[in-house]
Amino acid sequence: MKIAVTFPIPEPAKALLSDLFDCRFWESEVPIPAGTLAEWLSEVEGVLTTLTCPLDQAALSGASHLKVISTVSVGVDHIDVDYAKSKNIAIGHTPGVLTDSTADLAIGLMLAVGRRLAEGDAMVRKGAWSDGWKPNLLLGTDLSQSTVGLVGMGPIGQAVAKRLAGFGCRVIAWNRSPKEIAGVEFTDLNTLLSSADIVSLHTALTDETRELIDRDRLSLMKDQAILINTARGAIVDERALADELAFGRLRAGLDVYSEEPLPLDSVFHSLPGCVLLPHVGSATERTRRAMFEMALANLISGVRGEPLQAEL
Ligand code: DGY
Repeated sequence: MKIAVTFPIPEPAKALLSDLFDCRFWESEVPIPAGTLAEWLSEVEGVLTTLTCPLDQAALSGASHLKVISTVSVGVDHIDVDYAKSKNIAIGHTPGVLTDSTADLAIGLMLAVGRRLAEGDAMVRKGAWSDGWKPNLLLGTDLSQSTVGLVGMGPIGQAVAKRLAGFGCRVIAWNRSPKEIAGVEFTDLNTLLSSADIVSLHTALTDETRELIDRDRLSLMKDQAILINTARGAIVDERALADELAFGRLRAGLDVYSEEPLPLDSVFHSLPGCVLLPHVGSATERTRRAMFEMALANLISGVRGEPLQAEL
């Protein structure tokens, strides 16, 4: 049985897979070219991949032996899911194991933006902290006691809500299908946007959520409110967000962007009031190991025609 791996993986994992399958490994940090990917997919029964490798119709159309796509991510917006399913290709992903790490990072961004942590760090490092303690140095806003609006109340949204309870926050939420969660007030999206001091996005990127937070919705947010995005960049109209940041009306903590890596000429680099991270929501040793193990298990089961540990 043949499999392909579209990104560099550690030697022990290569050895394990090589014992089981005839493997093609993409070894370079440069993404696999579309032509090579399509050629490999036309030969294999399983593919281990991740979110930097788009598996669209063009990539999948010739994949006539493919039984399983196993992605090392919970998000599957890089895969044409409907098309894959129409070809009876199972899709494995990694839900659950990255919930806590991503929720932790969302809280970290709330604190980083509200308390101006990156500005403070930069000031000390460049020797610009010259006057000692000052009553008005780097004044920020509290997470404690604030109203936080969570957009999307799947496992990560719920994990963020739990953490916010410890900060004494009022937690309001919007979810596509209504839910009842202790300590969380559900409301419509526009009310959430206009009431929250901090809005944090925890919804998957789908056709329905693409640019869900558009220019009009951003304009509903309170002056100086903070937008946190650890989900997917394309959920937000980034141009409209950049305008709000440039104007100094909103603040933001961003871990994800519609184009990744963030292009060097992106306007975000020079905008005030925002903290920018390089898509590291799940980036802890423990979580990445768990994601990888789950994805390997999904791959192996899928190639053998067995049920996956986590199938979409
Ligand atoms: C995911 O898994 O979808 C995250 O964005 C990366 O860990």
